[in-house]
Amino acid sequence: MASAKPSTPPTFTPWDAETHRDPYPQLRALQEHDPVHRFDLVSGWVVTSHADAVRILEDGSFSSRIRTSTFEQTRAAPVSPEDGADVPLQSFFERSLLFLDDPRHASVRRCVAAVFTPGAVARRESRIRQIVEATVAALPTEREFDFVKELAARVPAAVIADILGVPSSDVDRHLHWSEGIGIFLDIVKSEEQRAHATRCLGEMWDYFDRATAAPSSLPEDALMGRLAALCESSEMTREEMLAMCCLLSAAGQETTANLLANAMCALLERPELADRLRQDEPSLPTFVEEVLRTDGPIMGVPRVATQDVCLRDRPVHAGDYLIVVTAAANRDPARYDAPDDLTVDGPARPHLAFGQGRHYCLGAALARAEAVAVLSCCLRQRRFEPARPLAEIRRKPTQVLRGPAELWVRAPVRSAPRSSN
Ligand code: HEM
Repeated sequence: MASAKPSTPPTFTPWDAETHRDPYPQLRALQEHDPVHRFDLVSGWVVTSHADAVRILEDGSFSSRIRTSTFEQTRAAPVSPEDGADVPLQSFFERSLLFLDDPRHASVRRCVAAVFTPGAVARRESRIRQIVEATVAALPTEREFDFVKELAARVPAAVIADILGVPSSDVDRHLHWSEGIGIFLDIVKSEEQRAHATRCLGEMWDYFDRATAAPSSLPEDALMGRLAALCESSEMTREEMLAMCCLLSAAGQETTANLLANAMCALLERPELADRLRQDEPSLPTFVEEVLRTDGPIMGVPRVATQDVCLRDRPVHAGDYLIVVTAAANRDPARYDAPDDLTVDGPARPHLAFGQGRHYCLGAALARAEAVAVLSCCLRQRRFEPARPLAEIRRKPTQVLRGPAELWVRAPVRSAPRSSN
C-alpha cells in the first residue's frame, strides 16, 4: 500500500551525496507518488515502476539512439555538439550496439551473439575457473587488501581480455580505460570527468584500431580477429567493429566488477549467509540473482520516445528522454513480496538488472558464470572478514554504475574442511 502523500514532491537527484550513498528511499518515494516523474534536466521522464519499465524496454518504438534525443542539448549530455570533432566518441555513440535500433541493431548483434550464449559460456567455464583460481591464489593471506582492486576488477578484465584476444600485459590499460568510460552514462558530470572519459575511450579505440589492423598477429580464436574478418566480408563496418570491441571491453569489466563487490558486501554484512552458501553451493546462483535484483551494478537504462505516448496519465512526447530506473523496478512492491530483502529461500526471482527485450545484456551468461566461479572459490578457500567498518564503504562516484570504490578485507586461508566420509 502506498504511504501518505509526502509534504514535498519527490525528486530525482542521484548525484546528491546522501542519495548516492543510498538511492533506494528516493526511488521508493518516486515509485509510490510519482512513478512517471517529469525530469527537466534531460527534457524527459524518470520511470520507476516494474510494469512501466517492462513496457518501455519491450516496446521497440522507444529508441536507444540517445544521440538523437533532446538529451544531448542539455548540460547533462553524454555527447555535446563540440564532440563532433572527436571521431572515436562520435563513432562510439553512433555505431555501438548499445545505441543502435533495429534493424541494424539485430544485424550487428548477430555478429557476436554466438560467443556469449549460455552454451558457449559453459564451454568456457574451465578457462574462467583457471583465471579465478589464479587470481584468488595471488590474494594476500596475512594482511588486509582491497577486494575491488585485487579481485573484483581483475577477474572480469582478464576474462574479457581472454575472449577478445587482448594479451595479459595490456589488461591493466584496459581496466583503466573501462573505469574512465563508465562516467559517460551519468547524468551530471564535471567537464574534467567528461574529458577523462573521452580520453579513455579515444585510447581504447586506437588500441583496437591498431590491434585489428594486423589480424594475423592475434591468437587464433581471438574474438577481435573474428570481428576484423567480419568487417572484411562487409557484415559490419569498421566503425561498428571498433565500437563493438570497446563496448565489450568496457561493459564486460565495470559491471561485473561491481556485481562481485556488491555480492561480497552482502556476504560481509551477513556472515551467516556466507556460512549457509558454503554448505549449500547450489544456492549460489540464486544468491547472485538476488544481489543483481537488490543491489545491481546498473541503476537504469536510457531510451528516447519516437512518438507521442501516454505513460500512466503523463504525456510523453516524441524526442523525450526516458530514464528507466531498473534498480527501482527490481524492488517494486507491486511486483515482489518483501522487495528489499535479499533471500536465497525459494527459486531465484526474475529481475531487470540485465535489461529486457532487444538490448538484453549480451554478457549476462558470462557475468553470471564469473560471479558463481569467484564466489564459490572465495567461500571454499578463504574466510572473508571486513577490515574496515562496513558502514564507511564509499561507492564509486558514478551515478549509473553502482559498486564500492574500495572494499578492505582480510581473507585468511580456511583450514581444510573435515571430510564427511
Ligand atoms: C553483472 C554484469 C552486467 C550487468 C548488470 C549488465 C547490464 C546490462 C544492461 C542493463 C544492458 C541493457 C542496456 C539497455 O537496454 O540499454 C546491457 C547490455 C549489454 N551488455 Fe551487459 N551487463 C553486465 C555484464 C556484461 C558483460 C560481462 C558483457 C560482455 C560481454 C556485457 C556486454 C553487454 C553488451 C554488448 C550489451 C549491449 C546489448 C545490446 O544492445 O543488444 N555486459 N548490459
